[in-house]
Amino acid sequence: MEEKLISSKNDIKRIRTYIEGLDEQIQGGVPENSITLICGSSGSMKSSVSFNIAYHEVLKGKKALYISLEQSWYSLLNHMTNLDFNLSKINLVVISDLSEFNQKIQKVKSGKGGAFVITDIGAIRKEIKAVKISPSSDWLNVVKNVVKKMKQASGCDILIIDSLSALYVLSNFTHPRTELFYIFEFLRDLDLTCFLVSETPRDGSRYGEFGVEDFLVDGVIRLQLVERQRKVTREISVVKMRATACNVDVFSLEFENGKFKALYGGQPALI
Ligand SMILES: Nc1ncnc2c1ncn2[C@@H]1O[C@H](COP(=O)(O)OP(=O)(O)O)[C@@H](O)[C@H]1O
Ligand SMILES: [Mg+2]
Repeated sequence: MEEKLISSKNDIKRIRTYIEGLDEQIQGGVPENSITLICGSSGSMKSSVSFNIAYHEVLKGKKALYISLEQSWYSLLNHMTNLDFNLSKINLVVISDLSEFNQKIQKVKSGKGGAFVITDIGAIRKEIKAVKISPSSDWLNVVKNVVKKMKQASGCDILIIDSLSALYVLSNFTHPRTELFYIFEFLRDLDLTCFLVSETPRDGSRYGEFGVEDFLVDGVIRLQLVERQRKVTREISVVKMRATACNVDVFSLEFENGKFKALYGGQPALI
């Protein structure tokens, strides 16, 4: 979170999750300039929940950068169109080749309102090949550079890295815990609200690969696919949120008519 002392709790600006029923339980949203881990097993809608936040913030005039390392930009956008996100409503800037960064960023600057910038694994791979530097930790450097460049060129309010798990696979860390610590330092210095997607086992035994992510971040939102007999339902809980009085109960997560809803009756979930 931004290193600034506040005088009243109302001074904390918040970014909504745009999940109906959940924002009310976390004082309206996640604190601006904080880092939140969005973790869950495959198919628990981590990418969709993250995209949903950035999409709505862009509609309100913010600038977002989505770095998609697990799926290509078109696979991600096709999924979002299938979820009824109207992509024609936002200034969408796809950077599929990072050598075109300066040109593309003009489209971000020229738009009056917000912009949604997407870059993906293919673009980063191309960039690594183009500059012919040795592999391993270069992925991390390219990712860092894209964020820094966008921040400097056009400003960037929201950053989504999807996923941290893919970044680990791609960047051969030698001392992962130490390196992670510096990645978080880097993210904090940027002054933007960051959502990091983290793929976790279905049993929910941990929030990140190295067991340190949850204490390095400000917030943890956990998505779960829960199996009861043969029925699988989705659940969401805010495990932690610094500077926030949050309800840590588990809510059912539904997606209907293009909208996420967190449902809770204070009662056991229906089977
Ligand atoms: N139109 C839809 N309505 C509701 N759920 C959908 C729809 N289309 C896809 N899904 C669900 O979204 C899931 C994938 O979401 P995604 O955000 O990519 O998950 P994750 O990033 O956690 O792997 C699919 O497994 C599918 O169950
Ligand atoms: Mg995903």
